[in-house]
Amino acid sequence: MKVSPITGTIGAVISGIDLRSPYSSHLISDLRSALDQYLVVAIPDQHLDSEQQLQLCEVFGAPIVNPYAPGTMPHPELTTIIKEADDQAGVFGGGWHTDLSLLEEPPSGSLLCAIEVPPYGGDTLFSNQQAAWASLPQPLKDLLSDRKIIQVGKPYGVKWAPPLEEQSMRGATRRNDPDADRERLHPAVLTHPVTGREGLYLNPTYALRLEGLSEADSRPILDTLFQHATLPEFCCRLRWSPGMIAIWDNFSTQHYAVNDYFGFRREMRRVSFSGHSIRDYSLQRLA
Ligand code: SIN
Repeated sequence: MKVSPITGTIGAVISGIDLRSPYSSHLISDLRSALDQYLVVAIPDQHLDSEQQLQLCEVFGAPIVNPYAPGTMPHPELTTIIKEADDQAGVFGGGWHTDLSLLEEPPSGSLLCAIEVPPYGGDTLFSNQQAAWASLPQPLKDLLSDRKIIQVGKPYGVKWAPPLEEQSMRGATRRNDPDADRERLHPAVLTHPVTGREGLYLNPTYALRLEGLSEADSRPILDTLFQHATLPEFCCRLRWSPGMIAIWDNFSTQHYAVNDYFGFRREMRRVSFSGHSIRDYSLQRLA
């Protein structure tokens, strides 16, 4: 197994492995370590079918069903994301976000398989939230250190709109669950349970306000943090090829699906998993 970093901050491409064959405990441990280290790993030329994708997912955590974009039976955990060549709408994930941080138990990671990709465009950006936290000015660190963030599925107070993350996805999106508009409080800073690295945990799709502050008072602070959290220095840009898979740490990154491939079809299959719980990431900070 060869691990080649994508940038100096985040991401690695892994080659020399075949995930369609049974994998050894050694390989499993190497994959987990690579994810802990690089936060997003891309593995080209795997062409996994649904069962193989779920089997690989289990290496990192139990597959979960996305309550707003469930897949079809027999694999409701798998969500297919399709944008047709003539689709004028936005894209699933076309805004900076961490997956489903509006849930009480957000997923710790996700695994995306490229089924069909445009000849160019359709990349995914990832940003390292540990690097973002490490370089945050101390007064902002002090403000966030022991604070929770209110996360909710109504982006910026627009009630009943689907979460941005789920907009413009053909077919699968279902949104009639008032539970999405319940406010969930999650720590603004999480500590990775294996590496001990601290990272920011807030994103412009779901974070509404800081605990103890109004939405209006939170707004300029959040805007500053969102801008900081996605500086180019913390990011990598993943160019997809058919059969490639990517796995990311959802508690230590944000991602953004780039909508720049009008005229071409793109089809992906994704699953999120719950490995470590958000409590595992919070233990060292908030009781
Ligand atoms: C997502 O999971 O947000 C979608 C990413 C992508 O399609 O590139």
